[in-house]
Amino acid sequence: MAQPWKKKTCYWMKAMLLALWFSGIHVLADAAAAVSKEQNQLRFSKEGQFKILQVADMHFGDGKSTPCKNVLPNQMRGCSDLNTSAFIHRMIQAEKPHLIVFTGDNIYGKDAKDAVASLNAAFAPALSSNIPWAAVLGNHDQQSTLSREGVMKYIVGMKHSLSQLNPPGVNIIDGFGNYNLEVSGVEGSSLHNKSVLNLYFLDSGDYSTVPSISGYGWIKPSQQFWFQRTSKKLRRAYMSNPEGQKSAAPGLAYFHIPLPECASFDSSNFTGVKQEGISSASVNSGFFTTMVEAGDVKAAFTGHDHLNDFCGELLGIHLCYAGGFGYHAYGKAGWARRARVVLATLEEREKGGWGEVKSIKTWKRLDDKHLTVIDAQVLWSKTSAGSRRKKKIGGI
Ligand SMILES: *[C@@H]1O[C@H](CO)[C@@H](O)[C@H](O)[C@H]1NC(C)=O
Ligand SMILES: *[C@@H]1O[C@H](CO)[C@@H](O)[C@H](O)[C@H]1NC(C)=O
Ligand SMILES: *[C@@H]1O[C@H](CO)[C@@H](O)[C@H](O)[C@H]1NC(C)=O
Repeated sequence: MAQPWKKKTCYWMKAMLLALWFSGIHVLADAAAAVSKEQNQLRFSKEGQFKILQVADMHFGDGKSTPCKNVLPNQMRGCSDLNTSAFIHRMIQAEKPHLIVFTGDNIYGKDAKDAVASLNAAFAPALSSNIPWAAVLGNHDQQSTLSREGVMKYIVGMKHSLSQLNPPGVNIIDGFGNYNLEVSGVEGSSLHNKSVLNLYFLDSGDYSTVPSISGYGWIKPSQQFWFQRTSKKLRRAYMSNPEGQKSAAPGLAYFHIPLPECASFDSSNFTGVKQEGISSASVNSGFFTTMVEAGDVKAAFTGHDHLNDFCGELLGIHLCYAGGFGYHAYGKAGWARRARVVLATLEEREKGGWGEVKSIKTWKRLDDKHLTVIDAQVLWSKTSAGSRRKKKIGGI
């Protein structure tokens, strides 16, 4: 009895696999562009450091003709998207990051006549710096002349962009711009060929398409499944070293829309400010729990709420906003536009050479005369991680 049924399933599955294989061809073609990026391998510096500049919510429009929003009355004149570009230039000069991450609403589609022109202008400072960069989508990027897929495809093809459309070999995943980047140990060190810091990028969507659910999008099960598998694969590869790393390499996640868990903090347990509500999806799709389970992600960085710039820690994971960056994005007059920096530092080994990630720090800089540094804090450190974790769990 069971035989014919089994056979049928088998044919059905074969047909299905064949269909998947064909639909996979275009995915592979898209991935081909990423192959040449292999030599653009991210790596810790000779000083054992890796620094990431996060730019959230540029909201780029048409450039010079697109005015600033929410600046002081005496700052309105001559203020435009060009001020956003100038701020990126200054941040790059001041911090000299190894990677620039744009966490969505890179362009404000409604006010961009031509998506390609707007994207070119928005990312121009990153391109001209010759620093590798990566981007994810927000909820406004697709509101000009390109779809979400179109915007992400265009971003993937830009100079020095390490962004990817979606993971190669994965045929069914929601959104555009789900990918990971590996940061290898110092050149010539024993961890030269190991990813000692893992970066995850996810498309947190735009708006709900489910009639009974209102509001913003969320990270779907298909994306979480990809994250789970990727994290597991990376943990295995890292700990299968002859040197035998005892725990997973730390990870950082970047996406646009904050998780509902951001609402579990107040000024008694976050660093920074909260000046507006948490505009997460109206449902909780469980990505925070998925990250806690995986165990490697130490911090997740978002944008979306321009007036919030805090970091708070829940169950060993910091949830951090970058604060609004762009001048055409809503903001608060007199409250400076800002950016977040993350610095990962390796441990120095006795016999010279560099080891695993020792600490992850963050701070923000304001777009004022001196690019003032504020809210410097340690997000994670190797030695204290174990005991802190234990304390937290004991306290529940
Ligand atoms: C915008 O840029 C112009 C030209 O550099 C400058 O004069 C002005 O102060 C800037 N405005 C703000 C709000 O930074
Ligand atoms: C890393 O891999 C390259 C190429 O496979 C090899 O030549 C090199 O010796 C490896 N380095 C270390 C430290 O394992
Ligand atoms: C932060 O503190 C508030 C009390 O002020 C508490 O209700 C909340 O659970 C705390 N959040 C975390 C993540 O510890």
